[in-house]
Amino acid sequence: MKRKIEIGLLVVIVGAALAALILTDGGKSLEKSHPGLSIDEIAIRNVTKGTVRYKIKPANSFKEPEKKSIKPGDMHRYTSKVTLDVTYERVGRDVTRHLAPGTPYAFRYDENNLVHLYEGSHGRGDVEDLAPYLVTPREVVEKMLQMAKVDGSDVLYDLGCGDGRIVITAAKKYGARGVGVDIDPERIRESLRGAQEAGVEKLVEFRLEDATKTDLSEATVLALYLLPESNALLRPKFEKQLQPGTYVVTHNYRIPGWEEKEIDAVSMGDLRGKNHTIFLYRR
Ligand SMILES: C[S@@+](CC[C@H](N)C(=O)[O-])C[C@H]1O[C@@H](n2cnc3c(N)ncnc32)[C@H](O)[C@@H]1O
Repeated sequence: MKRKIEIGLLVVIVGAALAALILTDGGKSLEKSHPGLSIDEIAIRNVTKGTVRYKIKPANSFKEPEKKSIKPGDMHRYTSKVTLDVTYERVGRDVTRHLAPGTPYAFRYDENNLVHLYEGSHGRGDVEDLAPYLVTPREVVEKMLQMAKVDGSDVLYDLGCGDGRIVITAAKKYGARGVGVDIDPERIRESLRGAQEAGVEKLVEFRLEDATKTDLSEATVLALYLLPESNALLRPKFEKQLQPGTYVVTHNYRIPGWEEKEIDAVSMGDLRGKNHTIFLYRR
C-alpha cells in the first residue's frame, strides 16, 4: 500500500515537473515571439514602393483563395491557428509561401530589385519594419569596426542592434561608447545580457526604441545592417542629424543616394564561406 502511494506521489511530482518545464521552456512559444503580434496572428506588410497583389487561403484546403491587394506601407492581419498559403507573382510565375501563425511577413525587394515575401522582424503597425532579424557574423563585425577606425573616443550607434554584438564588440575591443536600439524586446534583453557578460555595461546603452525616432546627433560612428529601402528611408535623418565627418558603416546594403559619400567597399567571406560586403561612408 505504502509502495503504491510512493509510486503515485512520484508520478505526480514527475508530472508537475514536466508541466513546469513545458510551461517555462515552452513559455517562449506561449509568449508573443514578435512584438505587436499574438500567436494566432499573421501580419503581412508591404514595404515596397508599389501595390502588391496576392491570393491567400488556409494551407491544405480546397477553398478558393481570396484575392487581395496591399498598398505600399499597409499591413494586412489575419487571425489563424493554421498555416496560410500566400501566392503572388514573381517574374511571370506564381510563387506560393506557407505563412506560420504568430509570424510577421513583408513584401520587400530582393537584391535584384524583385518583390519577394520575407519573414519580417515585427508586426507592429505603428512602426516601420526596417529589417528582419539576422546577425552580422563576428568576423564581419570586426572588419566593420576596423574600416570605421573605431577607437576609445568614439560613440557608436547601431540602429536595429539585434543581439548588440556590434556595440558590445566596439566597447570591449576599443573602449568605445555605444548605443544600440531595437524594436524587439527580446533583442534588447539579449544585448543587455551580452554587455554584462562582456563586462562593458558602463560603456553601452541599449534601448527599446523605434530607430526612426533615435537622435543620432552624438554618434561619431553609425553601424547599420538594414535593407536598402530602410537605408533610403533613413537617409534624410542621417543628413539632418549626423555630424559632418561621421563614419557610417553598413553590412551588405548600400545607402541609396549616398554614392558620392561612399569611401570604401570590401567583400569578405565569413567562417562558413558566405560572402559579405561592407560599405563605408563619410557624412
Ligand atoms: C538585420 S538585423 C541586424 C542586427 C545587428 N545590427 C547585426 O548586424 O547583427 C535588423 C534588426 O533591426 C530591428 N528592427 C527592425 N525594424 C526596426 C525599427 N523600426 N526600429 C528598431 N529596430 C528595428 C530588428 O528587430 C532586427 O533586430
